[in-house]
Amino acid sequence: MPRILITSALPYINGIKHLGNLAGSMLPADVYARFKRGQGHEVLYICATDEHGTPAELAAAAAGQDVQTYCDEQHEVQKAAGEAFGLSYDWFGRSSRAPNRRLTEHFAKALEANGLIEERVDRMVYSIDDARFLPDRYVEGTCPHCGHVGARGDQCDNCGRLLDPTDLIAPYSAVSGSTNLEVRDTRHLYLLQTKIEDRIRAWIESKTDWQTLAKSIALKHLDEGLIDRGITRDLKWGVPVVGDDGGPRPGMEGKVFYVWFDAPIEYIGATEEWAQANDGNWESWWRLDRGADDVRYVQFMGKDNVAFHTVSFPATILGSGEPWKTVDTLKAFNWLNWYGGKFSTSQKRGVFMDQALEILPADYWRWHLTAYGPEGSDAAFTWEQFQSTTNKDLADVLGNFVNRIVKFAESKFEGVVPDGGEPGPLEAKLEADVAAGIAEATAAFEAMEFRKACVALRAVWVLGNEYLQEAAPWTAYKTDVERSAVGVRTGLNLVALFARLAAPVMPFTAPTIAATVGESDLSWPTAGEGLLDRLPRGQKVASAEVLFKKIEDAQVAEWSERFGGAD
Ligand code: 2FM
Ligand code: ZN
Repeated sequence: MPRILITSALPYINGIKHLGNLAGSMLPADVYARFKRGQGHEVLYICATDEHGTPAELAAAAAGQDVQTYCDEQHEVQKAAGEAFGLSYDWFGRSSRAPNRRLTEHFAKALEANGLIEERVDRMVYSIDDARFLPDRYVEGTCPHCGHVGARGDQCDNCGRLLDPTDLIAPYSAVSGSTNLEVRDTRHLYLLQTKIEDRIRAWIESKTDWQTLAKSIALKHLDEGLIDRGITRDLKWGVPVVGDDGGPRPGMEGKVFYVWFDAPIEYIGATEEWAQANDGNWESWWRLDRGADDVRYVQFMGKDNVAFHTVSFPATILGSGEPWKTVDTLKAFNWLNWYGGKFSTSQKRGVFMDQALEILPADYWRWHLTAYGPEGSDAAFTWEQFQSTTNKDLADVLGNFVNRIVKFAESKFEGVVPDGGEPGPLEAKLEADVAAGIAEATAAFEAMEFRKACVALRAVWVLGNEYLQEAAPWTAYKTDVERSAVGVRTGLNLVALFARLAAPVMPFTAPTIAATVGESDLSWPTAGEGLLDRLPRGQKVASAEVLFKKIEDAQVAEWSERFGGAD
C-alpha cells in the first residue's frame, strides 16, 4: 500500500478564502485525504499559508498593519477557518518559517551550482512618486493578450497568461495609482528555464494518467515557449537572497526571492515543520534516496496555478539534480463562479469561509461544493441550486432514510437491531446493487472524479430508499414480524454503510449517522464484507435530531439580500 502525500495549493495570506478557493483545492484535497485514510493508507496532507510577496505586503498596507503582524494574525484566522470546515490537514504551515527559508536557499544554491541561475541586469517598472520598484502585483494595467483592464503585473486574471509587469499596457502603481512610472535597471537572479525545457517537457509527457485539464495547460505553456524567469524581487518581505557567508549576497541587498519561487518549496518546508512538531521524518516523504519511493504524491489546485506547478516548480526540483519526489498526479479545477460572474477577494464578492459557517454547518457546503463543484468545466454557485441540492440529496434522500428506519426500529423493535427472519431475493438483489454502487464510488474517488463519486454515493442512498419502499417493513409488521425484522435489520445496516460512504465528504455528520445504529466505524467499505448484515443483533439504536434541515425560500431570499446574489 503506497503512502499518500497530498498538498493543496497554499492560500495567499491576504484574508479569509471564498468558497471558490475552497472548492478548487482545499476541499477536494481533504475529501481525497479522508477517502485514502478510510482505505487504510498512511496519508500526509500538507497545506500552509503563502505569506510572501506582493499579495502579503499590499494586504498588510491596506489593513494598516506591519506585514509580520498581519501575517501572524491572518495565519491563525485561516487555520481556524480550515479546521471549522473539517479540513483535516496533518499540518498547516507558514511559508515564512525557517524550514522554507533554508530550503529556498538550498534550492537556489543547487540550481546555481548546476549553471541554471544567472545574475542579470534587468529593466523593471519604477514608480517615481512611490520611490520604489513595482514588482508583480504592485503594478496593474491592461493585459496585452486579452485587453482585460486591471490585469496584475504577474498574471492576468481574465486569460490566465503569466505576465511581466513591463508587458502591461497603460500601467499604474497599485500603491498610489500613479502613472508617473519609468523603466529602470535593476539586478536580479534568473532561473534559466530555457536550459531545462526539454527535461520538463519529457517529464510532463511521461505523465500519461493526468487529466486533460492539467496536461493541456502544462503543454500549452511549454508550446508558448519558456522564458528565463526572474526569481528575485525588489521587496523587503520574503526570503532574503544570501551570499556564501550567510550575509546579504553582494549586489542583492534588499532583495528577496519571488513568492512563486519559494511558495511551492513550502510544500516541503511545511512537511519539515510537521516533522519537527511530531517527531516525524520529512525526508522519507520527499527524498527518493531516503525512502520516499513508496510515496504517491497528489497535488490539488485551481487552473491558474497549473503552469507554476508543471513548469516553474519542476524546473526548481529537476534543475537541482537532487533526488526529490515530484508530483505523481496533479488534479486541477476550473472556476467556481458566483452566479454569472467571479468570486472576488478584493471586491468581497461572494461568500467567504467564515460567513458560510455562520449560515449553515460545514457538511452542507462540503456536499454541495464537492458534488456540484467546478470539475469538468466552470460551475456557478447560486443560492437556488444550493437550496435544491441540500433539500433533495441531503434532507430527502439521506437524512430521511436514516430517520425513518431508526425511528421505526425504536417504535416496533425496542430500539435494537432485530433478530429473526432470513434475507430473501430482495436483499440479495440489494446487496449486488449496493456492491456495484460502492465499486463505482471507489473507482471515481480513486480517479479523483469527485462529482462522479457523489453521483454514485447518491445512487446508493437511493437504492436504500427504493429497498425500504419495496420491503415496506411497516406494512409487513402487521402480518409477518420476521419479514419486517429482515427489512429493518437490512435498513439499519444500510445506515451504517451510508455513514461510511459519507465520511470523506461529510465528516461531521457521518459519525452522527453511524451513532444512530450504535457504530463508530467510518472506514471506507468494500463489497464482500457482508455489508447488509454486519451489525450485531440486539445492538442499541437511537434516532438523531434532524440530520439535515431543509433550506427555506425565506432563507434564500435573506441570503440573496445579504450577499448580493445575482447582481
Ligand atoms: O494562487 C494562489 O493562491 C497561490 N497562493 C498558490 C500557491 S501554491 C504553492 F505553490 F504554494
Ligand atoms: Zn489577459
